[in-house]
Formats: sequence, C-alpha cells, structure tokens
Amino acid sequence: MDRRKIKEIVSNMTLEEKAGLCSGADFWHTKKVERLDIPDSMVADGPHGIRKQDLEGDHLGINDSIVAVCFPAGCATAASFDTDLIEKMGEALGESAQAENLSVVLGPAVNIKRSPLCGRNFEYYSEDPYLAGKMAAAYIKGVQSWNVGTSIKHYLANDQETRRMSVDARIDERTLREIYLPAFEEAVRQSKPWTVMASYNKVNGCYTTESRKFLTDILRDEWGFDGYVMSDWGAVSDRVAGIKAGMDLEMPSSHGINDAEIVKAVQNGELDEALVDEAVCNILNIIYRYLENRKPEAKFDKQAQHDMSADIAKQCIVLLKNENVLPLDFESGEKIAFIGKFAEKPRFQGGGSSHINCFAKTSALDAAKEMGLFANIIYAKGYEDDKDETDEALLAEAVAAAKNAHTAVIFAGLPDTFESEGFDRSHMRMPSCQNRLIEEVAAVCDRTIVVLHNGSPVEMPWIAKVQGVVESYLGGENVGTAQMEVLSGRFNPCAKLPETFPLKLADNPSYLNFPGEGDVVEYREGIFVGYRYYDKKEMEVLFPFGHGLSYTEFAYDNIKVSSKELTDKDTVTVTVDVTNTGKVAGSEIAQLYVRDVESDVIRPEKELKGFAKVTLAPGETKTVSFTLDKRSFAYYETKIDDWYVESGEFEILIGASSRDIRQQAKLTVTATTKLPFVVTQDTVMMDVLRDEHASQFLDAIREANKLNEVNNTEGEGLGASANDMMEAMMKYAPMRNVFSFGNGSMTHERLREILSQMNKR
Ligand code: BGC
Repeated sequence: MDRRKIKEIVSNMTLEEKAGLCSGADFWHTKKVERLDIPDSMVADGPHGIRKQDLEGDHLGINDSIVAVCFPAGCATAASFDTDLIEKMGEALGESAQAENLSVVLGPAVNIKRSPLCGRNFEYYSEDPYLAGKMAAAYIKGVQSWNVGTSIKHYLANDQETRRMSVDARIDERTLREIYLPAFEEAVRQSKPWTVMASYNKVNGCYTTESRKFLTDILRDEWGFDGYVMSDWGAVSDRVAGIKAGMDLEMPSSHGINDAEIVKAVQNGELDEALVDEAVCNILNIIYRYLENRKPEAKFDKQAQHDMSADIAKQCIVLLKNENVLPLDFESGEKIAFIGKFAEKPRFQGGGSSHINCFAKTSALDAAKEMGLFANIIYAKGYEDDKDETDEALLAEAVAAAKNAHTAVIFAGLPDTFESEGFDRSHMRMPSCQNRLIEEVAAVCDRTIVVLHNGSPVEMPWIAKVQGVVESYLGGENVGTAQMEVLSGRFNPCAKLPETFPLKLADNPSYLNFPGEGDVVEYREGIFVGYRYYDKKEMEVLFPFGHGLSYTEFAYDNIKVSSKELTDKDTVTVTVDVTNTGKVAGSEIAQLYVRDVESDVIRPEKELKGFAKVTLAPGETKTVSFTLDKRSFAYYETKIDDWYVESGEFEILIGASSRDIRQQAKLTVTATTKLPFVVTQDTVMMDVLRDEHASQFLDAIREANKLNEVNNTEGEGLGASANDMMEAMMKYAPMRNVFSFGNGSMTHERLREILSQMNKR
C-alpha cells in the first residue's frame, strides 16, 4: 500500500485508535482496529529459529513455542564468514515465518562482543563491526526475500546483561561511529530491515527508546530506514518521549496505560499529533507490506531444515588446533573414546528469548550411528552438566576408556547455567570438573581432542596438553552431524574465529570497566575492542581473530591493487591468488585488513575491511577480489561529524587470520576535503607550520620572537643542544607566547591582524 493511502487510513483514525496502535495487543501481536478493518500482525523470535508462542507469551523462553528447527546461533554463523550461507539460512527462516503467518522475525542480533562475559554473546556475531554488519545484511536479505520483516537488534550498545534495563553505556562519539553503530548501519543501508528493535539500555544518559539522535537523526535521516522501530520487550520508560524520538511501537502491550499517556500529551499540547500519525504510518506501512504480499506457497519443511542446519553448522566449526590428530579414521578398527555428556546431549543453543522448541536433536553419538561410524566408538559420560562437581566414578570411567583408546575426543564446553540471556558470566572458565577431566584424559592419551560447545571464548589451561581443539560454538539442533563430518574428514573445516580468544579474562580491554559501576558503564577502551586492542598492545592471545585451520594448506600470492594512488572518492580493487597446496579439497576465508601507516589520530594497527570464502580442489588456484572505498580507509572525525581519510600511505594486508598476514601492498590515498583549521592565539606553532596557507604568515611572529636565536653554547650542560631543545619547545608554543618570550615588539592588535590573515582562505 502506498504511503498516501496509509495516510488516508490514519486520517480516519481517532486519537485513541492511533495511540492504541503504537503498542502491542499482547506479547506478540500488533492491535486490530476493527472499525477500520485494520488487521493485526504477529511477530516472533528469532534470531536462529522460529519461536512462535501460540498460547502463553513470554520473552524469556519459559513457555513453550511451536516446534521449529534450531539453526546455529549467531556466534557460530559469524564464524562461517559466509554471507551466501547466512542468506540461505535467512531464506529458510523467512519461508517458515510466512508459513506460520509471522510478519516479522526478531533478529538478527548484532551487538558488539565488547567483553567475552556478555551473557548473550552466543546470539551476537562478532567483536568486529564490519563482519557483524555483513552477516546481518545477509540474514536480513534472506528472511525478507520471503516478504517477512526482520528486526535488527538491540539498537544500541546492549553489550551486557547486567542491569540491561537501566544501565547507561557511556561511549564517545568516535567509538560509537567506528565500533557500535556500523553493523546496524551496514545492515540498514544494504538490506533495509523492516523494523529495528530499540534496546533496553541508555546511551550517554538517554534511553535508546527515547533518543531522537539514534532513532531518527541517524537511523532514518542518515541511513534511510523506512520501517518501524519497536521497543525491546519492556524497554519503554517515558512513552511520550519515545514518540517524540521516533520509537513507533511499544512491545509488549502496556494494557493501555502508556497509550493513555500519548493521548493526554496530545490533548494538553505537549506532544504534536503529527508525530503520533507518523508512528502509526510507519507501523501500518509494514503491516500492509506483509499482508499484501503473502506467499501461499511457503512451507515449513522441518526435516529439510534439520538437514540444512547440519550443513550450515559444519561450515561454522572452527578447527583451532590440530597436531596431526585430525581427521579421525573411524573405520580403522582402532578404538576412539567419545567422552563427555555433550557427546550424547550437546549444548547447541542458548537460554532466553531465542530458545527454540526443537524439531529434532542430533548428537555426535547419534550422528556416528547414522553415518555408520559408530563401530569403534566407546562412550563415557565423564561429567554431569547440571552442577560443577567432579563425579569421581564418571571421571574414572572416562580415564579408563581413554587409556584403552587410540584417540580420546572430549565433548566439553559451557553448560546452560554458565551462559544465558539475562545474566553475564563472572569469569571465562569452563566448569572445573570438565577442566580436570580434560587434564586427566590428556595425561593417559597422547591423542586427545577437545570439542567445544560454547557461545563465547573460554580459557584453556590445558591447551598445551591436548593435540586437537574443535570449536563448534552453539551449532544448532543438528550439530552432532556437523561434528562427525568434521571429525571424520568428510567435511574439511573452514570457519574462522569471529572474535579473539584471549589467554585470560584480565587481558580483555573492557576488563576494568565491565559491567560498570551501578547503572553506569563507561566504554573507556574506546575503539580498541577485540583484536584492535590486542594487536595495538602486541599481546599474546590464545587464538587471534580470524584464526581457523583446515585439513589442507593454502598459499597466497600475487597481490595486485588496481591503482596505487587514489583519492578518497575512488574505489580500488585488490586481488590475490589463493592456491590449495594440500591433498584434499577445502575452503579458505581470505581476510583483508587495512592499516594506516602514519596518522595524526590514534588508530588500530589494522582493521578488517574485506573477506572472501573460496573453495578449492587440491592444486587449484583462484583469484579473490576485494573492493575498497573511502570507508575502508577512513576514521570518524568528530571535528566534521563525518568520515575522513587522512592523506598518506596505507597498507593492504591479506591473510589467513589477523595474525597470519600472507600478502601486503601499499597505496596512497589523498583526501579531497580538508579539515577545518582556525588559528587562534592558542594554536601551537607546529600546527600552524603544517598548514600551507597559515604558515606563510609566520615570519612576522618569528621576527618578534627572539628565542629563535639562542646561542648554541648556552645550552651546554643540558645534555642536548639548546637549539634542538628550543626547536622542540617551539613546536608546542602557542602564538601568544610571542608576548611572554618575544622581544616586546608584538602588540595584540598586530597579532590579531596576523591571525586574521592566516584564517583568510
Ligand atoms: C529480548 C529480545 C527478544 C524479546 C522478545 C527480550 O527480552 O531482549 O531479544 O526479541 O525479548 O522475546
């Protein structure tokens, strides 16, 4: 329906009807207006499956929802670095939503993994905004291809669960623009999500649900968002302020209480009714977009999706360590011990609003049986996951099994009680009973492999004692099949870490300021989140961002840039050849990072600006291509409230991980805009000297400044040449110093004249 028709409908609504439409009818529906034939619509979680609650609604995943397929969670899908794959998963979700008559799927969730402790990291994509943005854009494109909306969430800076409904995230503007906004920006600009979910928290003193800056100025005016903004469930504090800011739909229902506030505010002149109309238009626009394009052919084929979810999951499994132990030959006749409860009952999804009532669950043991690979497997449970206590009998049984086996594979990780929506972790450790189990098994078996199930990094005190580590993240309901495909080598692992695994929690840049004090959390690490910090500090990490091994090897050669000199208005193409130099087919994810060689502002060592997945037969070479533009080189300059590229040299680094750079090239970018520069009496000499125009007028100041002529010998005894010292000091001398240290010939009037010449451009 076009906007004009919608406006017409709105013009026939009473103020009460309009205010009513600005909040949900219940937990999951928008309101009907029977008098005008305005139908309701239903939304459901998201992000990695359909959580449609037909009966009793709740936002905590407590009550049952319909049976659906649980795909790998965001933590896992980001590791695929595969936008086509995520788009396909989105298509499956979109089709299911159509079949279930859902107008919006509540996802993707793109908050930045500022700390490994955030309880909801399992739903989020990455510590890197570029990767998170690309994944989100692909997911949205997939879901919306079925004419079902998405709700990208949680906008903005909901990066912790502690006090999530009251905490004020204090973040400087450059950090917001470079780290916390771009994933939303990329997704909104590229894939136009139908809705955006405003988060629970405040940013810089204002609830995001009341922030005109974020909901209107940036979201709509800068990025072109044309859907409706809904609140996270229960995120509304001041409903009238929300309408003013651009927060269209309050979820869930407030039982008319906040609707009445809107009516009252319009009646007493505090709120412009046009703003209410605008919110209603935004909501109706999406409701009709959905209703007028229903897709009757949509099916919710759960078996097909269950199979598909294994196919996705295997492309999300990261091979972290492999000292010649993997892949395993399950048919050699040698015993392989599968140890750990997660081999039988894997943890494959997180707790809370994303919790799916699964269609089926396939563990590694189930999959081994289905794939005919079970004959030589012996299973020992090893631990219980409902409490962190060693069960000595289970431990002894596991160690005995490992002793008699050629290889021990321990299925370990974080139980539900360790990470979930609603609370943050307090440490980065795995349960101590599991750590002990790993140590003891590794002590008796020199081919020990740990298969992890977790939504966020863990410390690995046993890393040097085991020969293999496989990261499955929370891989969805068919994770067992994916694990068996990888362990057996039927599938060659190719995923890469979308986050750094630090050695220990205290290494993390947010460590001193997470989760904050009371209702305030200061993002004092600024732009130095994840690898941006570890690289700048040259710190050792357990596994770097972008790391992931394969059963084959890849060589990188022949980097080429389409132009070595460009302006910030040009794009440049970078190509590199990737060759599979090993014996088996495999896929590699080539990563492109940009480094500003020299900069006046503080910048990370390197930043991810491109990635590409390439599948290669043994011996095969393919050329991978990346396109870079202004944003690839720019930082956010608060002086101009815009992105800015400093003229100069940049390095293009292409590698297999952020710490395994294989090819480098240099190019020069020239800025086409100039930063504003105004000389005042407080401007220091070195800044004036760097400005071509202003520096022409420095002679007059130099003349009046007798300190330019210091006799070198007077400086003896200071340990440095007095002239050098003077020169160094002069660099930082403000123009007005000519009064204090000059020869008395300068007047205020004369200095003002000089400054005005300097500023005349
Ligand atoms: C969560 C959202 C979710 C909503 C509805 C909230 O508690 O933060 O991510 O979509 O509930 O279940």
